[in-house]
Amino acid sequence: MRIGVLTSGGDCPGLNAVIRSVVHRAVVDHGDEVIGFRDGWKGLLECDYLKLDLDAVSGILARGGTILGSSRVRPEHLRDGVERAKGHVRDLGLDAIIPIGGEGTLKAARLLSDNGLPIVGVPKTIDNDIAVTDVTFGFDTAVGVATEALDRLKTTAESHQRVLIVEVMGRHTGWIALHSGMAAGAHAIVVPERPFDIDELTAKVGARFSAGKRFAIVVAAEGAKPRPGTMDFDEGGKDIYGHERFAGVARQLAQELESRLGKEARPVILGHVQRGGTPTAYDRVLATRFGWHAVEAVHRGEFGRMTALKGTDITMVSLAEAVASLKTVPEERYAEAECVL
Ligand code: F6P
Repeated sequence: MRIGVLTSGGDCPGLNAVIRSVVHRAVVDHGDEVIGFRDGWKGLLECDYLKLDLDAVSGILARGGTILGSSRVRPEHLRDGVERAKGHVRDLGLDAIIPIGGEGTLKAARLLSDNGLPIVGVPKTIDNDIAVTDVTFGFDTAVGVATEALDRLKTTAESHQRVLIVEVMGRHTGWIALHSGMAAGAHAIVVPERPFDIDELTAKVGARFSAGKRFAIVVAAEGAKPRPGTMDFDEGGKDIYGHERFAGVARQLAQELESRLGKEARPVILGHVQRGGTPTAYDRVLATRFGWHAVEAVHRGEFGRMTALKGTDITMVSLAEAVASLKTVPEERYAEAECVL
C-alpha cells in the first residue's frame, strides 16, 4: 500500500512519535510505502511531499514539534481544493491518508472523507477537547509544563506578596487549567465552560490574604470569560481562520483584582512553551499506539474513522462522531477541583 501522512493545526508534543510509529508499522510490518505531506493540508493541496522511510524517522520519538511542518488552512480553501486533493491522491497512487490533527483538522478530514478520500484520522491537541477519545497526546506534556511553571511562580509570588494570574492554553475548554491548577495547588481556576463571577473571585482571593497568606495563584484558561455584564471585558476579535483572537484574560483579571484588592497583581502568559519540547513518556506511548492502530485501520479499509483511547484500549470511532461536539470540563470535575482550592 501507499500511505500519505500529514500533521495539521497547532503543533503538539507527540506528533513525531505518531509519524515514526506509522512508518515503522507500515514499512517494516506491512511492506508499505509512506510519504509525508509538508505543512499539513497545504502539502496535499500543493502536492508537496517527502518520502518517509526508516532513516527519515530515526531519532524523532522524543522530539517535539513535527518533522513534516504544520499550518492551518482556511475551511473555504479546503472546500475549493477537494477536487485538487483527489487528483493528487490519484496521481500519487495513494491508498490512504492519515491526517494527525485537532478539531479543525478532523473537520477537514471529514469533509475529504465525505468526498470519497480514504482517510484514517489521528486526534491530537494539548487542549484535550476531542470528545470521543478519553485523552489526546500532548495534553500530559502541556499539563506537566504548566504545573512546573506554577510551582515556580508560587515562590516568587510569595516573596513579593503578589497575586499571579497564570494564563494557560485552552480556547474552548479548561482541561489544562483544571489539571495544572489541581496539580500545583492553585487558589482559583477559571475556565471557559463556567464564566467567572468577578465578585466571587475577588472574595476568594481576598479571603486568602485575610487569613494571613501572603500570595495567591489564579490559573486562567485563555478562553475564560466573566459572566456577561459583571466586568468590563475585551473579548478580542477573530483571526482569518475564524478562531477567537483573545485580548488576554490574565492581563484583564490582574488589573481588576489589583484595583479591587489593593494587592499587586501580575499576569503571566505561558503561551507556546506549553506546546514545545519533548513529549512525556505517557504522550509518546499514546502517540505510538495511535500510529500503530491507524495503519491497522488502513489495512482493514476502515476509512472515515479515527483512533481513540477508551479506558486503556485503542478503538476506532467515526470522524462524524469525533467532530460533533467538544469535550468540555464537566461541572463535577470543576467541583472536585474547587473543593481543594
Ligand atoms: O488548539 C491548540 C492551541 O494550543 C490552543 O490552546 C491555542 O489557543 C492555540 O492552539 C494557539 O494557536 P496558535 O499557535 O495558532 O497561536
